[in-house]
Order: sequence, then structure tokens, then C-alpha cells
Amino acid sequence: MYEGGNSSCSEGPGHVAIIMDGNGRWAESRGLPRLHGHRRGADRVREIVEACPELAISHLTLFAFSTENWNRPVAEVSGLMRLFRRYIKKEGARLVAEGVRVRFIGGRERLADDLRALMAGLEKQTERNNRLNLTVAINYGGRDEILRATRRMAAAVLAGDLSADDISTATIEDHLDTAGLPDPDLIVRTSGECRVSGFLPWQSAYAEFAFVDTRWPDFTVEQLAAQIQRFGQRERRFGAVAG
Ligand code: IPE
Ligand code: IPE
Ligand code: MG
Repeated sequence: MYEGGNSSCSEGPGHVAIIMDGNGRWAESRGLPRLHGHRRGADRVREIVEACPELAISHLTLFAFSTENWNRPVAEVSGLMRLFRRYIKKEGARLVAEGVRVRFIGGRERLADDLRALMAGLEKQTERNNRLNLTVAINYGGRDEILRATRRMAAAVLAGDLSADDISTATIEDHLDTAGLPDPDLIVRTSGECRVSGFLPWQSAYAEFAFVDTRWPDFTVEQLAAQIQRFGQRERRFGAVAG
């Protein structure tokens, strides 16, 4: 949550969010099926997660599947869903042991029951951890998130539990999937595309952005560290005058 005032970035980005893009092109350029790229991408997730504590990152948010990604071929979508299941089953114990608290954002209704149960189980298993806060966006779209929040607020107003005049930015934040989480300080997108594709539109109002050409399966901890160092040289003014 934005707290006002300008600041240098010398403290580093406590919250890094990553748009993990380029898996498909990584695979296609090697004559491999796109799903192979997604599997390689999942391997990178483990390395980046493990490196966060030493990079002083307390919150890591990863964009894994957008509300628009359902428009891909059925085989790619089901392959990705299988990968999410496998990742949770395979990495769950390691995440618990490493003190990672896992949360998922995005609409869950469209996901299969068993995947939803795995997600809820991992959230529960890790709820007491605090070494790293890992948030994974699955079936996430910023407009969809704001729409769902708006519906819940409207329902609360109708029920008499909320007065329209009392709706503040804090009320909106409390109804977003990211309620309770800080805003991202730095958003990184891999694979050379300079767009956000619906990622965290409300939360990124004052985020710093870094667009890197490397495709996600080739993105390394060293490259993340380099982006963090560059972040440290920026001055965030939050609309105020340079101090
Ligand atoms: C990102 O890689 C992963 C998802 C969107 C699920 P892409 O699959 O978008 O890879 P490109 O952009 O086609 O190369
Ligand atoms: C954004 O990537 C979503 C994820 C990385 C999960 P896309 O590949 O879906 O975005 P566009 O289609 O290039 O905008
Ligand atoms: Mg893409």
C-alpha cells in the first residue's frame, strides 16, 4: 500500500512481481513443443524462489496464467493446468520446509476442483511461514479482479453492511485478491514485450518497471540481481518533488 513521500530505492524492492513471458517462443525456436518451454519455465521458478531471501525480497508475485490464456489451444491449456498440479504436488513440501508462504490470486471458479483443492491445501500448509511471501496468479486478470471486488462491494452496500460514501481506496484494496499484501515495488517482464497484459493494474500504480529481452526459461538469478541493482539507482517520487 502506498504510504506517501518520495524515496530513493536504496532499500531495494521488497516486493518483486514477474510476468514470466516467453516460454512458447523459447521452445518454438528450438523446434520443441510449447509445453516443453512451460516445463523449463517451472524449473526457473524454483531457482528464483530460492534466491529471494538473499536478494532481500520479502514478497514475490508471479504471473502464471491470465484470464485471456484460456483462449490458447485446449492442449496447451490442459498441459499448463497439469503443470500447476504437478508443481504444487512436487514442490509443496520444499516450499513448506523453506518457510515460504504461498497465496494464489485470480478467480478460482473456472479451475478444476482438484486443482483448487491443491491450491487451498498449500495455502493452508504454509500459512504460518514468513521467510518469503510467494503469490502466484492463476486465472488472474486485473480487470476481472476489479470487477469481482466491485461486485462484492455492491453486494455489501445492498446488504447494508457498507455505505457507498464510506468506500475509500483502502476499502477497494481490502476487496482485491491482494488484500493485505503490499504493492509491488518492481515489476519485471521477460521476453521483450513492453506491456502488462492485465497484471496488477491497481497495485502497480507507482511500481517501477523493467522489461528484459531474455525469455523466461533462460532468465537467471544473476539477471534478477542486476535488475534489483538498477532499481536501487532509481528515485521514486510518487508525484512529489525530488528530494
Ligand atoms: C508465458 O509464456 C507463460 C504463459 C502465458 C502461460 P508464453 O506461453 O506466453 O510464451 P510466448 O509469449 O508465447 O513465447
Ligand atoms: C501474460 O503473457 C501472461 C503470463 C505471463 C502468464 P501473455 O503471453 O499471455 O501476454 P500477451 O498475450 O503477449 O499480451
Ligand atoms: Mg507470451
